[in-house]
Amino acid sequence: MAESGAGTYEEILQDLLDRRVLDRDHSVLVQFAGEFDRGVTVRLGLRDVTFVNLEPASVSSRLPSALRADAHRMTAEDGSYDHVIGHAGLHHCSRPHQALYEMYRIARRTVVAVENQDSPLMRVAGRFGLVGSYEHDAVADGGGTTGGVDGTGVPNHVYRWTRREVEKTIASFDPGRTVPVEFRSRWLIGTDRALTPGMRSVLGGGGAPARARLVKGLNLGLNGVARRQGNIFGFTIRKDLSRPQTWIPVEPTVTVAEVPA
Ligand SMILES: C[S@@+](CC[C@H](N)C(=O)[O-])C[C@H]1O[C@@H](n2cnc3c(N)ncnc32)[C@H](O)[C@@H]1O
Repeated sequence: MAESGAGTYEEILQDLLDRRVLDRDHSVLVQFAGEFDRGVTVRLGLRDVTFVNLEPASVSSRLPSALRADAHRMTAEDGSYDHVIGHAGLHHCSRPHQALYEMYRIARRTVVAVENQDSPLMRVAGRFGLVGSYEHDAVADGGGTTGGVDGTGVPNHVYRWTRREVEKTIASFDPGRTVPVEFRSRWLIGTDRALTPGMRSVLGGGGAPARARLVKGLNLGLNGVARRQGNIFGFTIRKDLSRPQTWIPVEPTVTVAEVPA
């Protein structure tokens, strides 16, 4: 199961508002949108928001008013929204890089995504069953027919990104420009993980509340010493701060010297 980065999503957007990168009147497209995203945008006071989901009426979205579109094939023009944002959606896509490309293409200023991070510690956590590789719960919630990869009943692989991977991907999308990317991460292993068989073997035979307390302590400890490797991972692609590569020729400015009469 992918852990929720709900708090991180709202923190990133609030921070962008505080720094005036995001303005409440800017146009925002929310990809993979659900009622949760609507709640966030309402709380933040964003006024020009378009919600999109492949299955707006599904239990994973519950936002029937959202536009229906596949994140891999958006019809919007290049740069048609100031910001394109998405929470917990890319890892549901069969081609996460292509879906991220579409977000990048149609954004004018920033792309914000909150996903799960791949890191050495996350791989250890995976080995102990603290985090999973395929998302079965979402398909169970969808009655076995939806909630998985591209909204189907096939549980999606939880594609976890590294910082370097995001940077390389953006550099490949837009090689003519340097594009800064801001990252934010934290550990948030869900306390429900304390009930899995893998966790039982790691944490011993105590009751569920005791195991949940241990997972909370684990999150606290990991955030103290290795926050950078945290499973919750948000990134903001600062297209607004992008610059042409130094090797791209700039049109010379022609100055015409005044000839004295
Ligand atoms: C885990 S839910 C996240 C929903 C919401 N953003 C939230 O955080 O509560 C993932 C959503 O992505 C949508 N989705 C899956 N594949 C998609 C695709 N190829 N294009 C657009 N949306 C897709 C699903 O319908 C689902 O609602």
